[in-house]
Amino acid sequence: MNPSVCISFLFLFLILFSCFDLSYCKHNNTFDAIFQFGDSISDTGNFLIANADSSPNMGHPPYGITFFGHPTGRLSDGRIIVDFIAEAFGLPLLPPFLSRDDQSFAKGASFAVASATALDVSFFRERGVEVGTNLSLSVQLEWFERLIPSLCNTTEGCKKYLSKSLFMVGEIGGNDYLGPWAFNQLTQQQVTAYVPAVVEAIKNATEKLIELGAVNLVVPGNPPSGCFAGILTLLNGTREEELEPGTGCLRRVNDLVRYHNRLLQRAVAELRKEHPHARIGYADFYTPIIKFAKDPDTFGFTYRPKLNACCGGDGPYHFDVRALCGQPGSSACPEPSAAIDWDGWHATEATDHRIADSWLHGPFADPPILSLRKH
Ligand SMILES: *[C@@H]1O[C@H](CO)[C@@H](O)[C@H](O)[C@H]1NC(C)=O
Ligand SMILES: *[C@@H]1O[C@H](CO)[C@@H](O)[C@H](O)[C@H]1NC(C)=O
Ligand SMILES: *[C@@H]1O[C@H](CO)[C@@H](O)[C@H](O)[C@H]1NC(C)=O
Ligand SMILES: *[C@@H]1O[C@H](CO)[C@@H](O)[C@H](O)[C@H]1NC(C)=O
Repeated sequence: MNPSVCISFLFLFLILFSCFDLSYCKHNNTFDAIFQFGDSISDTGNFLIANADSSPNMGHPPYGITFFGHPTGRLSDGRIIVDFIAEAFGLPLLPPFLSRDDQSFAKGASFAVASATALDVSFFRERGVEVGTNLSLSVQLEWFERLIPSLCNTTEGCKKYLSKSLFMVGEIGGNDYLGPWAFNQLTQQQVTAYVPAVVEAIKNATEKLIELGAVNLVVPGNPPSGCFAGILTLLNGTREEELEPGTGCLRRVNDLVRYHNRLLQRAVAELRKEHPHARIGYADFYTPIIKFAKDPDTFGFTYRPKLNACCGGDGPYHFDVRALCGQPGSSACPEPSAAIDWDGWHATEATDHRIADSWLHGPFADPPILSLRKH
């Protein structure tokens, strides 16, 4: 090998390895911490800790089977979207806030709780509706606010720390609509009427974080819940005329989600105008899953029927509300990585991995999350 080629190789080697492990490029290329707010899509164990007495289904195998080897409280066979985002920034997977180990929260935490709503539980009580948890978005925000003094101490130190952290505000809002609707507590018309209030609650939470010192924020929209087995089953999606051609997803549910996402994008645009120093991204949770449902083979989703839950009880979509994944009478498909839907409500690790990549690198986040870290 001639010397100049050799030197080129040496440089290539140095470039590759100096930045290969992101922790080496830490100074201005990554975040100090990630804080996640939301519901079951981003819960890393809070619901399980808060409800340990009732032994909820996500505390049982096969939850966690693909990656952790045991249930962690994540509603997945493995990692969830925020885990892949943390990995991309060289940060540890987020511990659940309710594990109450303040020392371990310096690099982030998940405040998300399965079943959480964007609106407070009082909103639903006034309408005679029971929701799965009272640990709503505003409660999660209070947790974070109370945690701040243990994360940083001087005004200047906190300003720096918070400005170098990433805040994921959602996904949240799905439970505000789908629980009451799917369990026949409210009609489609009733839940549609309060979409603006849900979006306002998410906007308010984002604004509150900015007031506290957050600078880098990502607001994800809602996923197309009409493509998930639990919703397809409970809202009777077997009638042909109710299904969207191409995907087989339930049209009226996805109509609602699109309406929510439209208003949310408008709110994000307003926030950007009102807080020009902040970098506020919108993450599209809708389009990637629609693409998987339209064209599953292209993305490696060979499980059939394509919208069946991998893990669940006997039913038209391998879903039975009396035999949820993790409960007696349920079973899991042999290859979760070939399935889009894990348990009837939530995506598999394989699906979440692809979504996380599309948010980190684009095209489904505006701007791509990796571009947020450049200060
Ligand atoms: C939520 O409900 C539990 C049990 O009913 C109660 O102990 C707790 O204080 C409530 N938390 C909030 C934030 O309302
Ligand atoms: C402030 O926080 C830093 C880093 O967490 C710590 O090293 C330092 O001792 C703290 N100072 C005070 C006064 O608490
Ligand atoms: C959002 O904040 C505004 C202003 O503080 C308040 O009037 C409104 O009730 C809040 N909305 C929700 C849904 O929390
Ligand atoms: C779904 O079908 C069942 C039985 O056919 C019926 O009892 C239930 O009311 C239906 N639910 C909805 C939301 O249409």
